[in-house]
Amino acid sequence: MTHRIAVIPGDGIGKEVMPEGLRALEAAAERFGIDLALEPFDFASCDYYLAHGQMLPDDWFERLKDHDAIFYGAVGWPETVPDHVSLWGSLLQFRRGFDQYVNLRPCRLLPGVKSPLAGRAPGDIDFYVVRENTEGEYSSVGGRMFEGTEREVVIQETVMTRTGVDRVLAYAYELAASRPRKTLTSATKSNGIAITMPWWDERVKAVGERYPEVSVQAFHIDILAANFVMHPDWFDVVVASNLFGDILSDLGPACTGTIGVAPSANINPDGAFPSLFEPVHGSAPDIAGQGIANPIGQIWSAAMMLEHLGHGEAGAAIVYAFEAVLAEGDPAVLTPDVGGHGTTETLGRAIAERISG
Ligand code: NAD
Ligand code: IPM
Ligand code: MN
Repeated sequence: MTHRIAVIPGDGIGKEVMPEGLRALEAAAERFGIDLALEPFDFASCDYYLAHGQMLPDDWFERLKDHDAIFYGAVGWPETVPDHVSLWGSLLQFRRGFDQYVNLRPCRLLPGVKSPLAGRAPGDIDFYVVRENTEGEYSSVGGRMFEGTEREVVIQETVMTRTGVDRVLAYAYELAASRPRKTLTSATKSNGIAITMPWWDERVKAVGERYPEVSVQAFHIDILAANFVMHPDWFDVVVASNLFGDILSDLGPACTGTIGVAPSANINPDGAFPSLFEPVHGSAPDIAGQGIANPIGQIWSAAMMLEHLGHGEAGAAIVYAFEAVLAEGDPAVLTPDVGGHGTTETLGRAIAERISG
């Protein structure tokens, strides 16, 4: 069986880490006899926007919907296209159009990588952020009134639906139930955001009745952020609304030394549409063009994609390979964010060689 994979590098370091993601993917496919049909697309990038006046072709949905997965780099080049135009016009359309309602973001302190938190070693930080990915604070309901006048009003409504919240909570509970610690942490803010968030807490309780084996704790998002830094070992599975989950899934990886290694899976669990796999990080204009971006976020996303496609062993081999290369700690191989003076390519090649065995 052939897996059809849409490959979209995007912008900035997305175009630099993607070749290394593909190198790892192809090495694993070769070793495990997996048949992949990789189909590159140039849209969902700011270059495409500059040429066509829009981020996506009108028929993007038709062209992508029959793929088994989408492998994405990063998008955004604010120097030429405003971020809200590029991101709303691409990545956020994919997440919503393909109903990828779970954004699964593992956060793990890897061997050989130094945490900025004193005294933390691998094993101390090992959790998942499960982020609601299609609604919440990322809503298109609202508008500007009296634009440009002293009376100007700007409104953007948070939209939470019972279906939308219950399904991501159920996913998070299932994940927690499958882990040894069986602990779910909910990010709330019911003290200040006093309509949607108390209701979120109610749904956490209601859905939790189906999972008596999972112990649940809730923290307001402000102290939760503090606890990520003070007590990262408390966390196992963290479930959060779209915006809270976005922030926590940069903070978590920062606690593990670099956001350059963090992967994500934008999942449509029903399988009606393709899921999308991409690093957590963006296009990093500050380092783009230097060839020094860490490719592990992209490579780990490839591992999550293979696992999603039913090739758990191949995914695990990729994870094993980048852990081994990091543990070896050769500064000539590693990128600067993890203490080396190597390049995107030296690190990517070392990992691919390790995958091949
Ligand atoms: P960013 O993630 O691109 O960069 C933040 C910081 O982390 C920068 O200093 C960067 O150099 C560093 N960094 C990021 N990835 C790295 C890697 N792989 N290796 C080493 N260092 C890395 O976030 P930003 O600067 O806020 O955003 C830049 C652009 O990317 C904006 O257009 C933004 O909208 C977009 N963005 C896109 C995505 C996405 O495509 N999923 C995610 C976040 C931001
Ligand atoms: C992410 C990114 C996106 C988000 C942006 C670029 C719209 O930060 O994938 O985490 O906020 O979801
Ligand atoms: Mn983000």
